[in-house]
Amino acid sequence: MAEREPAIVTRGLARRYGERWALAGLDLSVPRGLIYGLVGPNGAGKTTTLRLLAGLLEPSAGEAWILGQPATGPRHLDRLRQAIGYMPDFSGVYEDMRAWEYLDFYARCHGLPRSLRRRRVAGLLDLIGLSDRAQDEVGSLSRGMQQRLCLAHALVHDPAILLLDEPAAGLDPRARRELRALLRELRAMGKTIVVSSHVLSELAEVCDQVGIMERGRLVAGGALDALERDLDPERSAGQRVLLELLPPAEAAQALLAGLPGVSLEPDGPAAPDGAAHDPEAAEPLRIAIRVEGGAEAHAAVIDALVAAGIRVAAYQRQERDLERVFLGLTRAEVEG
Ligand SMILES: Nc1ncnc2c1ncn2[C@@H]1O[C@H](COP(=O)(O)OP(=O)(O)OP(=O)(O)O)[C@@H](O)[C@H]1O
Ligand SMILES: [Mg+2]
Repeated sequence: MAEREPAIVTRGLARRYGERWALAGLDLSVPRGLIYGLVGPNGAGKTTTLRLLAGLLEPSAGEAWILGQPATGPRHLDRLRQAIGYMPDFSGVYEDMRAWEYLDFYARCHGLPRSLRRRRVAGLLDLIGLSDRAQDEVGSLSRGMQQRLCLAHALVHDPAILLLDEPAAGLDPRARRELRALLRELRAMGKTIVVSSHVLSELAEVCDQVGIMERGRLVAGGALDALERDLDPERSAGQRVLLELLPPAEAAQALLAGLPGVSLEPDGPAAPDGAAHDPEAAEPLRIAIRVEGGAEAHAAVIDALVAAGIRVAAYQRQERDLERVFLGLTRAEVEG
């Protein structure tokens, strides 16, 4: 039965600093084997949550279970330490250690025997793509590389759960992409990953579920699709697509509106200058549509346009507007 338990459950988890509640009663449930994004503005309580789950902070109230076992209180610390790898939002690295030494040091702290340590450190350096920098001093690595080394540090004892506080902060776009790939790889290895960020779009692509926090509370949680639907049931059916059609394309709008599962977006771009589209103009016609269904449905739209002799210069599927979801949810909380 324990296998079916969520990786992390909290009930009324709370933490107070003086008079201020940093965390004001958190009910969280993170299924096993998923990437769970903890999203919220500065001061929302993300770091506090992760530190509580890592056993680095005592709750003022409430309870937590890790892998089905109680996780609050000092007597659970040993088990917690084994189950959890924690990467703080910023951590000092020992700059004059070599990369492999750094990991080896922490592996030793966790009591790994020498032979296992060697394999583990080599495996981790490979995982984070730093095998060729193993002999370099940590201080000579780039920030992104140091970040990855910190991630490897959190993994050194092969924990089932990873708690990563703002791992993407300070990384360039490419390093972010690599981080996302690394998180997916870790998920494929069966790990449960909780990752925090104050930017939803940074995480959305990689997260199976998100919890949106604001002022010490969870204001929404679940799969992003479902969150978006809850927030705006009318608008979120189907995927928004931006089309660029070469003239003459006057027939396109009527044609598209007549296709099953396709609707014209009322707030789509008009002609480039904002005026009504001039059929004589050489400019392409830009319109936004919404298409329900998967790849087949999108292919059918393009087929229909082509069959009608309309030339498609661009067919751009839009990612969902995550910041809108995020702001909508946090605003609802403020107004409610
Ligand atoms: N050691 C502390 N002493 C006093 N107050 C604290 C302490 N740590 C956190 N807080 C307060 O708790 C609240 C939540 O802070 P927390 O660091 O958990 O937020 P966060 O969501 O991680 O924010 P950020 O995006 O800025 O990292 C804030 O109001 C903060 O000032
Ligand atoms: Mg924080």
